[in-house]
Amino acid sequence: MNGFRRILSGGCRPRGSWAFLAGVWLLAWVMPAGAGWFHAGPGALRCSDCHVMHASDRGIGFGGSALSPPGYPKLLRAASASEVCLSCHDGTGATLDSAPDVTGAASYETATLKRAAGAFQASIGVPTVNGHDLGVANVVAPGGGYSSGPGLSCVDCHDPHGNANYRNLVLRPGNVGSDRAVTAVTEAVLTPTSTQYSTDNLRYTNSTNGLGAWCQGCHTNYHGAPGDPAMGGQAGGDAAGSNGYWFRHPTQGVTLSQGVTNGHLDPTYWFTSVLSRVPVVSVSGTIPGTAAASDNEVFCGSCHKAHGSTHRAGLIWDDPATSALEDGTLARQTCQACHNE
Ligand code: HEC
Ligand code: HEC
Ligand code: HEC
Ligand code: HEC
Ligand code: HEC
Ligand code: HEC
Repeated sequence: MNGFRRILSGGCRPRGSWAFLAGVWLLAWVMPAGAGWFHAGPGALRCSDCHVMHASDRGIGFGGSALSPPGYPKLLRAASASEVCLSCHDGTGATLDSAPDVTGAASYETATLKRAAGAFQASIGVPTVNGHDLGVANVVAPGGGYSSGPGLSCVDCHDPHGNANYRNLVLRPGNVGSDRAVTAVTEAVLTPTSTQYSTDNLRYTNSTNGLGAWCQGCHTNYHGAPGDPAMGGQAGGDAAGSNGYWFRHPTQGVTLSQGVTNGHLDPTYWFTSVLSRVPVVSVSGTIPGTAAASDNEVFCGSCHKAHGSTHRAGLIWDDPATSALEDGTLARQTCQACHNE
């Protein structure tokens, strides 16, 4: 996005970035694409892609005067972690297998290929109502007490050095007391980038070790099993005539067929051959299944893009009647995929 480019070309991008970018391109070409944890291990990024060693003219450095190069915390190549990340992930390396762009509609996105996490909608330091803010100080996560201090950064959610988690997601988002490993996501195709990171290529296969509990690390009260004090509801969902009603929209633990039985879900959309669907969690990977037997469950990612979208709260608007993904013209089309009210 222009905003990001401005930030990065306005002085923060490490000087000598041509050599740097050339290095990135080279990496992109020689890399055996596909290791999910790309940022670590053999054949992956080099330490000096992100850290300065000697700030030397001959080696990879960031220029400045020989006596006193700019100098950033933790020997980073830019003033903040997010700026280091965006030096590659801002769409400037436009080849298909390079770092996925997280800042705008990527050139490789089409009607049927949409990056799973969507895109940040504002530059570092600028708030937006359309998803997560980057580098806006002291924002508090709704539903929880987590405050971001200097502002949310890529490394609050991703481990820059890679780990065994899906998308290198940090184990303890929001510094929660227990690990929230995310392993219950599978991707069918690992290259090219356009397909690998597309919503259509991913299957969210369980709530345990899935994204919902991970988001909960910061948004404490917005997630939980049916019957959880913060969620309401009850095991099996809220059956007609019961008083186990929900306090918040369920995010796990109720299948869409239970919803049909309970009279909340309209089978005429989800369980028919609609042309596109929002993501759901399914252990069996059978989507949609049938109204009588479906293990599909709604989760955060059914309604939100993790980074952001062009809609309020990073919401997904999808028209199920067309094959294009995320092409809705109204927020309620997403709800109607399941409820059709
Ligand atoms: C993709 C960019 C990237 C790569 C590649 C990378 N680092 Fe880092 N590294 C970072 C960032 C960003 C931080 C700061 C993290 C933070 O502030 O939480 C960091 C922090 C560190 C720290 C400081 C940890 C601390 O707690 O103070 C060390 C040491 C380090 N990296 C070493 C390495 C080594 C060694 C390699 C190569 C094996 C490497 N890094 C590769 C981005 C990277
Ligand atoms: C030197 C360029 C470069 C920098 C700097 C960089 N990345 Fe990456 N990143 C890449 C490339 C290239 C890929 C792999 C694309 C592919 O799948 O082929 C990648 C992949 C990723 C992925 C997806 C991994 C997966 O599981 O598929 C995440 C998440 C990510 N980067 C986050 C970050 C974060 C956070 C930072 C900053 C700490 C950062 N990157 C800095 C080049 C970079
Ligand atoms: C490291 C903590 C952290 C994690 C993990 C986290 N969030 Fe957030 N989230 C925040 C903070 C802080 C805010 C408030 C500031 C802002 O809008 O970025 C926020 C705001 C939001 C908003 C409102 C955005 C807006 O524009 O009003 C949504 C929606 C959201 N988060 C969804 C999610 C989802 C879905 C996940 C999991 C994929 C998630 N969050 C994971 C910290 C986090
Ligand atoms: C609030 C947490 C959060 C923050 C902040 C965040 N990410 Fe992510 N990111 C995620 C999650 C969750 C996913 C996986 C979403 C999915 O697959 O459903 C993801 C996915 C990705 C991917 C894979 C491409 C895609 O669209 O799925 C890349 C690359 C990436 N992030 C890089 C970054 C970079 C670079 C930054 C900082 C500019 C950043 N992320 C900040 C949570 C975050
Ligand atoms: C069924 C769809 C749906 C699901 C599932 C869902 N959300 Fe939301 N969420 C919404 C809608 C719609 C809004 C916008 C409400 C508004 O703008 O007032 C929203 C708003 C938010 C906000 C902003 C609230 C505020 O006060 O600004 C956060 C944070 C959030 N969601 C996080 C999450 C997390 C985390 C999960 C999973 C644990 C989740 N959501 C699951 C539909 C959903
Ligand atoms: C992927 C499917 C799915 C999507 C999309 C979805 N929901 Fe739901 N919704 C459910 C399930 C499952 C339940 C729980 C049904 C039960 O308790 O049996 C539910 C329950 C509800 C209830 C509570 C019903 C009750 O009487 O307790 C309301 C209200 C609701 N959803 C509104 C919405 C809105 C508004 C949206 C769009 C922002 C939305 N839903 C999107 C699956 C979905």
